[in-house]
Amino acid sequence: MFELREETPDDWWEVEALYDLCFAPGREALSSYRLRDEVPKVAALCLVARDASGVIGGAIRYWPVRISGHRALLLGPVAVHPTHQGEGVGALLIAQSLNKAQDIGWDRVMLVGDPPYYSRFGFSHLPGVVMPPPTNPDRVLGLELSDGAWDGITGAVERDLPAG
Ligand SMILES: CC(C)(COP(=O)(O)OP(=O)(O)OC[C@H]1O[C@@H](n2cnc3c(N)ncnc32)[C@H](O)[C@@H]1OP(=O)(O)O)[C@@H](O)C(=O)NCCC(=O)NCCS
Repeated sequence: MFELREETPDDWWEVEALYDLCFAPGREALSSYRLRDEVPKVAALCLVARDASGVIGGAIRYWPVRISGHRALLLGPVAVHPTHQGEGVGALLIAQSLNKAQDIGWDRVMLVGDPPYYSRFGFSHLPGVVMPPPTNPDRVLGLELSDGAWDGITGAVERDLPAG
């Protein structure tokens, strides 16, 4: 029913409107957004789900970050339109983008989110990886896309600004 495509510049405002609908007002004041300032998103992993009529049903974006010099993906925001929540669109967006991330050579992914939801994709608590405050450390989760990719990685999560 839903088709996933890479987000294009034409999708931008529809995705923003979807996020505004799905998240509390002031979402861009969250500390995780400071890690996205002036950093291009990882375009190949940003996906939009549309139904057969072309109506947007969900979207996921990713940004690169660094922890003690190690690159990681920051998953999110991900949101599904309230009329389609619970139909598996979120799982589709997350699973497909994670597969693609692995295919194109990313080793590790992190996010700030609800452990009961993200554990089904293999995410678990990342002790010692510190998001900018105020972030509940219990909600900082990670997933390895290659064996041992998070082993020994601790420290503050920082922006991965493009060179130059
Ligand atoms: C969270 C979200 C992306 C999930 O997408 P979705 O398409 O509704 O989810 P799916 O259909 O893939 O999965 C549904 C399952 O996830 C569970 N679930 C959804 N959100 C959850 C949450 N925050 N915590 C725990 N479980 C959750 C549902 O109860 C359901 O469980 P079941 O499979 O046992 O019935 C979507 O609900 C959403 O956009 N929510 C508002 C924005 C948001 O909170 N985004 C995530 C920020 S961390």
